[in-house]
Amino acid sequence: MRSNKRQNMKNLLKIAALVVCAALTVVLTVRYSAAGEKPKLAEGKRLYMHYCTMCHGVKGDGKGFNAGYLDPKPADHTNAGEMSKRTDEKLFDTVSGGGKSVGKSTYMPPWGWTFTEAQIESLVLYLRQLCNCKGPE
Ligand code: HEC
Repeated sequence: MRSNKRQNMKNLLKIAALVVCAALTVVLTVRYSAAGEKPKLAEGKRLYMHYCTMCHGVKGDGKGFNAGYLDPKPADHTNAGEMSKRTDEKLFDTVSGGGKSVGKSTYMPPWGWTFTEAQIESLVLYLRQLCNCKGPE
């Protein structure tokens, strides 16, 4: 009887150890694949269409259906003159930390909790396509 209980305990511990290992594998795989992601223009466009157009407009010209309610207005991402003054890092930081983090309007939400770094880099690629411009060297 006693040794049976002990055996059961051991088996339980083994199962618990297996569960912990499996969970760790899942967590590490997900994290690792997120870290290994490469930024992609198509992904940036997909995210932009879904998350940004209600303010910045389908064309990225700042004329989304929410724009009328916002002051200051959402940035016009097709404005090459303005967009070429921002480095890619600055755009990344603005998207990640939101307007407030770079001294701009709090109406520009922070996306750093929603997207991976690679996804934000993908958005920056798409912003560069919208303005058809590069940042300062
Ligand atoms: C709720 C409306 C709203 C949404 C949604 C939104 N933005 Fe904005 N965004 C703004 C506003 C308003 C500004 C202008 C802030 C200012 O000028 O002070 C802005 C500014 C920006 C800027 C700064 C441009 C510059 O001149 O430096 C970038 C970059 C930007 N948004 C990217 C994005 C991206 C990418 C998304 C989607 C992931 C997004 N925004 C979603 C409202 C929004």
